[in-house]
Amino acid sequence: MSDTLNYLDAACYHAAPSFTHHLEGELPEPYRRDDELLTIMGPLRHTYWTRNVWKKPFTAEFGSISEASKILRGIQRNWAPYPAKLARRTTLIAEALPSLPNKPKAFPFSVPASPMGAFTLLDEHTLMASAECSSPWPNGEFEFIEDKEGPPSRAYRKLWEALVMADAMPGPGQRCVDAGACPGGWTWALAGLGAEVIAIDRAPIDERVAAMPGVTFMKHNAFTIKPEDIGPVDWFCSDVICYPPALYDWVMLWMES
Ligand SMILES: C[S@@+](CC[C@H](N)C(=O)[O-])C[C@H]1O[C@@H](n2cnc3c(N)ncnc32)[C@H](O)[C@@H]1O
Repeated sequence: MSDTLNYLDAACYHAAPSFTHHLEGELPEPYRRDDELLTIMGPLRHTYWTRNVWKKPFTAEFGSISEASKILRGIQRNWAPYPAKLARRTTLIAEALPSLPNKPKAFPFSVPASPMGAFTLLDEHTLMASAECSSPWPNGEFEFIEDKEGPPSRAYRKLWEALVMADAMPGPGQRCVDAGACPGGWTWALAGLGAEVIAIDRAPIDERVAAMPGVTFMKHNAFTIKPEDIGPVDWFCSDVICYPPALYDWVMLWMES
């Protein structure tokens, strides 16, 4: 099988949705560009504006849809299609592969252990693919089963995503600061995991969230609260809308405490 694979001395960077322009600013001129996928020659580079990085891309020639799927299946089970072009043909290959575990998931859940590859078509008879990718989810995307009743805002999904990506969760016996907490989505998520939460905001918090076990609300300018005002914390969460340098200085205070 390896005879049919032509490994590239390159990596492919799949831009975060609508942020291709930002990604272009992080990388040299692409060797090739397939819609939001930039292939850059040379060793793997560190980037921020990616949803997924194809670490070891290869190309492979194939005659038929079943031959393309056989090449991919011969390497591993999971392959996410990226239909940059030839969308119908890409989808047909994906349909000939084992289906992906991409149903919305109930939070909390762990990062999947099985590898997730990605592929696209360069032309009708040439695959470009990588078995090794930076994200364990198809094209770096996963969905939660949303809670439309409990939280007072949809912002909790940002925190859920960050916790899943970090593969770490606060829990009972741990203290969290939630800065810029209102109306209370993040506090709702943290308290829902059983953690103690000190929620700080200049605006009022949702009453139902304030009444959750373990939640203490401080109506205050977050930046004037110092670590010694609160004592040791295990998790420091901030969704304050502000200039990044101001937040950085304040976070460093807590890191150093
Ligand atoms: C994006 S909202 C937070 C949403 C919240 N994480 C949630 O899940 O509902 C940003 C919040 O930052 C708060 N904020 C902005 N500047 C602040 C400051 N200096 N101190 C405290 N809160 C601040 C705003 O009042 C606002 O409620």
